[in-house]
Amino acid sequence: MTVGEALRLAERQLAEAGVDTPRVDAELLLAHMLGVSRTGVHTRGDEPVPDAFQVLLGRRCAREPLAYVLGEWGFRRLVLKTDARALVPRPETEILVERCLELLHAEPAPRVLDLGTGTGAIALAIADEHPGARVTAIDASAGAVSLAKENAQRLHLERRVEIAQGDIAVAADGWDLVVSNPPYVAPQEWDRLQPEIREWEPREALVGLGFHERIARVANTHWLVLETGDCQAEDVAATLESVGYADVRVTPDLAGKPRVVEGRQPT
Ligand SMILES: C[S@@+](CC[C@H](N)C(=O)[O-])C[C@H]1O[C@@H](n2cnc3c(N)ncnc32)[C@H](O)[C@@H]1O
Repeated sequence: MTVGEALRLAERQLAEAGVDTPRVDAELLLAHMLGVSRTGVHTRGDEPVPDAFQVLLGRRCAREPLAYVLGEWGFRRLVLKTDARALVPRPETEILVERCLELLHAEPAPRVLDLGTGTGAIALAIADEHPGARVTAIDASAGAVSLAKENAQRLHLERRVEIAQGDIAVAADGWDLVVSNPPYVAPQEWDRLQPEIREWEPREALVGLGFHERIARVANTHWLVLETGDCQAEDVAATLESVGYADVRVTPDLAGKPRVVEGRQPT
């Protein structure tokens, strides 16, 4: 089969499987297989496709997340290894990092804690974009911790980012900034999520209530920056104010939804 034929076949099969973006996914799977960019696929239309392409296509048709099938995913300036040990980093989380960097820009060597690090996305992006930051990344999941450590090594950031298994209690240690994208999906929402999430991503990375308030109460930090779910930002902002945070601010994501809540602990 040629690349051109594979592209048409893959787009049709992915659409039949219910994938939202069958054309883009078909192009990205072929690009990965051929080692070219997405647009490069179209210059190879007459070349043969390796048999292994059918395996990747089958995985995506089973609604495995594209990031797991490709084994890597872009986050800000980084390409992270991604697999079922941790949540796929989302575009809205890039805004969370943006806010942290803005708050830290005048600090030459801030101590930063990323609580619930998953792939290590937030911790590694902050270390990458703030050369003076000393970052600690914690996760309750042993699988996530091992993946985050692999990412730190791949990106040569292992000396700047300390990664360990741990719990929210670490936030009490005293930090310049604590950042977290905690589990925030209500248990009753689980069955309504797309198969890519429900059947493949770790449930404990997504489902949880009350994390924002627990972190806000435990944290001993100058700045706290939290990602929130749809329709949660207002309540989380009110919680931060009620437990004594000042300069509470909500930042929208790229879709305009209130997404990131930050606050400062008065000294
Ligand atoms: C929504 S995911 C975020 C992952 C990553 N920070 C990101 O933004 O892509 C939440 C993470 O918190 C971790 N987690 C859940 N409960 C935790 C706890 N009590 N203490 C520390 N980490 C926890 C999960 O294992 C998961 O990796």
